[in-house]
Amino acid sequence: MKLDTLVKPSVLTQPVYEPGKPIEDVARELGLDPAGIIKLASNENPWGSSPLAVAAAKRALEHGELYPDGGCFSLRQKLATRWGLAAQQFIVGNGSNEIIELLGHVFLREGDEVVMAAPAFVVYKLVTRLFGATPVEVPLREWRHDLNAMAAAITPRTKLVFVCTPNNPTGTANTAPEVLAFARALPEHVVGVFDEAYAEFLVNAPDLRPLIAEGRKIICLRTFSKIYGLASLRVGYGYGSAEMCALLNRVKQPFNVNAIAQAAALAALDDSDFAEKTARENRAGLADLVRGCEGLGLEVVRSVANFMLVRVGDGERVFNALQRKGVIVRPVRSYGLPEWVRITVGTPAQNARFIFELAIATRV
Ligand SMILES: Cc1ncc(COP(=O)(O)O)c(C=O)c1O
Repeated sequence: MKLDTLVKPSVLTQPVYEPGKPIEDVARELGLDPAGIIKLASNENPWGSSPLAVAAAKRALEHGELYPDGGCFSLRQKLATRWGLAAQQFIVGNGSNEIIELLGHVFLREGDEVVMAAPAFVVYKLVTRLFGATPVEVPLREWRHDLNAMAAAITPRTKLVFVCTPNNPTGTANTAPEVLAFARALPEHVVGVFDEAYAEFLVNAPDLRPLIAEGRKIICLRTFSKIYGLASLRVGYGYGSAEMCALLNRVKQPFNVNAIAQAAALAALDDSDFAEKTARENRAGLADLVRGCEGLGLEVVRSVANFMLVRVGDGERVFNALQRKGVIVRPVRSYGLPEWVRITVGTPAQNARFIFELAIATRV
């Protein structure tokens, strides 16, 4: 009997997540010096990691023999103080990606529908499919979530609705009043998931806490991967009602967040200098990238996040040409945008190098 006859159908039809290429892979495949490669493909922090977090992580490594605190007590406590919520209103995950999966464990079964924008962060669709539920994709309108159309796409079968603001891969955001009005109008049988992975880059991020306090079925997702530069440690969190977080905590692995990551995240929350520097430099870098791309006559999507879409013609060709020069960006054909590439905002030197190589790669 062949192995795949034993497998759940949802696994066999499951699309595979395509991550940004690691520097080492590109170096090996193309015979390049890894030291000369820049990766602007995964919306990572070009300024490194929060130094306070790194110091705390190193200290935590001294006790690698101990299991971590499965309840993330200190981190949830600190997040509670930071947000003015109760510690029970948090779930900490192995990246916010894990929390998206936990939502699937808690809420999704075959026949359920999940409303999301298209294109939006691909993991919503992957998790939906993994649990045998049906993604209902609502096209963006002028590059932003079409919240009216998303509300109209809700049916009695809808379980979850994902709103990603700023959105990946477009970098665009709906306004806070738009998001709040949408959240307030969600029907009783729907859980609203508000992915705030890039919210720290926004000036006026929506604040859904008042709606959570009213008892609405809302969960907001944040990550330490971006603004604090801790992507490799895998730590993110959600906040919502205590009831929602208890359900998500019930289905997680006992030790889902390692002790190094917990220590780093705890210290990162004190590192407002690093977070502010990241946001400030990002704004300047975005402006440089817009100027540089438009200077080459290329169209961009105006972003408020730490990445940006630029229309290059044949995205795959330009991605490959840039990669041969040691500049890794993200082709977005899989997001239905074959003419575009997504570029993460780098340091001024990285941005300048990208623009220089882009000029060559798009000169046909
Ligand atoms: C919109 C969005 N949400 C969530 C994530 C997941 O972040 P992490 O799992 O690193 O916390 C990402 C990562 O790129 C993202 O772009």
